[in-house]
Amino acid sequence: MVVRNAYPTGGKLITTTIGEDLLLRNCSPDECRTLTAILQTAGLYESGVDSEEALRAKLAHDPESIIVLAVGGYIRGMVVTIFDPWASSLWHLTVDPIWQGRGYGRLLAEEAEKRLKSRGARIVIGYVREDNVGSRALFKKRGWGEFPMPIIPIEKKL
Ligand SMILES: CC(C)(COP(=O)(O)OP(=O)(O)OC[C@H]1O[C@@H](n2cnc3c(N)ncnc32)[C@H](O)[C@@H]1OP(=O)(O)O)[C@@H](O)C(=O)NCCC(=O)NCCS
Repeated sequence: MVVRNAYPTGGKLITTTIGEDLLLRNCSPDECRTLTAILQTAGLYESGVDSEEALRAKLAHDPESIIVLAVGGYIRGMVVTIFDPWASSLWHLTVDPIWQGRGYGRLLAEEAEKRLKSRGARIVIGYVREDNVGSRALFKKRGWGEFPMPIIPIEKKL
């Protein structure tokens, strides 16, 4: 598998071409509808943060924050990042169910980590459900540590 990275210094267009037709790149605003569909199919969709409108607002705030994996021009996976030099985070690592088990989740996680690091992140955190065997296995293999603890998510609509 040939990997070619194209990281501009300070630029916005970031793509990684893997083989002939597999591409890791920034999501464009007009693709947010596809992301909501993938998240719904994978059971990760949260109406408060994953509407098309909310995802577009996120891209307007940080165009590099959502990475998609496209095969033959079609989006088959995604990952959402929040960059903050204090502590960054990774969310919604998702591969379309039909396309799982081909290494795409690993490629997306790897790309998200690389990009966050290149922007200055020193630590990245995330949340995985206890029963999510696949995701836990993927992150463990990538060197993420687990810190089991009883946490109750809280939120407030502003
Ligand atoms: C978790 C998810 C992103 C993994 O994507 P994927 O493309 O199927 O994973 P990959 O093929 O890249 O596998 C990466 C590694 O994890 C391991 N893995 C993946 N799923 C696994 C499973 N169910 N059980 C055990 N190991 C698993 C693979 O063996 C692989 O290891 P390797 O690198 O040594 O070969 C995908 O299953 C998914 O989208 N799930 C639904 C959404 C979700 O729960 N996301 C995580 C939110 S925290």
